[in-house]
Amino acid sequence: MSKVGFYGLEPWQKEYAEENSDVEKEFFDEKISPEHLPNESDVDILSIFVDSKIDGAVMDRFPNLKFIATRSTGFDHIDLEEAERRGVKVSNVPSYGENTVAEHAFALILSLSRKIYMAYNKIREDGDFSFDELQGFDLKGKTLGVIGTGRIGKYSIKIAKGFSMDVVAYDKFPNEEMAKELGFEYVSLEDLAKKSDVITIHVPYSEDTHHMVNEAFLDQVKKGAYLINTSRGAIVDTQALVFSLKEGRLGGAGLDVFEEEGVIKDELDFLTTGKPDGHDLKTIIANHILIDLDNVIVTPHNAFNTREAILRILDTTLENIKSFVEGKPQNLVS
Ligand code: NAI
Repeated sequence: MSKVGFYGLEPWQKEYAEENSDVEKEFFDEKISPEHLPNESDVDILSIFVDSKIDGAVMDRFPNLKFIATRSTGFDHIDLEEAERRGVKVSNVPSYGENTVAEHAFALILSLSRKIYMAYNKIREDGDFSFDELQGFDLKGKTLGVIGTGRIGKYSIKIAKGFSMDVVAYDKFPNEEMAKELGFEYVSLEDLAKKSDVITIHVPYSEDTHHMVNEAFLDQVKKGAYLINTSRGAIVDTQALVFSLKEGRLGGAGLDVFEEEGVIKDELDFLTTGKPDGHDLKTIIANHILIDLDNVIVTPHNAFNTREAILRILDTTLENIKSFVEGKPQNLVS
């Protein structure tokens, strides 16, 4: 008989899981990480979100562990090699929110292009209804550079076309048929940097994409271009990003994700229990500089967070768990 440990569900999500799945469950409010090792538990299935980091030390606390169902598309928060070594299977939610994340990318783009965040602050804080410093730019006729033309990248391209933008894209595996159908062009990463007015990142994080947007890339961008990252923080070299913004090469950035985002989300915890080894303190400082810049807007890894998307995530996760228990696992990534 399987027992699932659900970590970090909100009360309404717990109710939904209770109503929609028969398997035995135990709920834990906290996230899990090597710094927050849970008490030993007899659950054999774990359901976690991206804020839980699962490595060998964490797996040691679950001696019966057979399966991890992450409630996310990305799975770089789980040590897959260690899981495989222990015979632990891992599943993800491959598709729940291509529109959801692409819509958030455009929320960031429009906030920057029309200075919505500045207008809002001026009125709220100073009662200032003047147009001073609020002139923006049209998206129509501008070029969007899309890095990664998978599910979310494709949806971003469709939205961009709705705004009459031109689109160039870079992907390791170009889909020429889709390019023809949607009316965009694949280019090299270097040409994407040179041609784009707004660049949006939709590749997964891997060794391959670590610091893909680095100093060399940022040196090539059009002066005044904007960078949007809703994918994973470490795809961008944070220190190079700060430098590019400070020297006025990039015109601004919209970021839903950060390198070292676990630490900045809970700095008090890091100061009291965290260990500096394994964390890049320079990047943590660079994040603070970023957050304070006037031409940078940040959101807290919230691109996935709509009611509709969460319901789709829960449905697929419960289905992943049911399929595993019935011996026909689906959506396995390892
Ligand atoms: P996908 O797997 O459908 O598309 C990824 C695309 O990137 C594919 O076309 C692939 O060929 C390309 N790619 C992979 N490695 C590459 C490389 N080294 N160079 C160039 N292209 C490469 O993934 P999807 O669903 O579009 O999601 C993308 C990422 O968005 C996820 O991996 C996740 O990290 C992030 N995400 C962020 C969320 C948030 O709340 N901020 C929510 C959901 C996803």
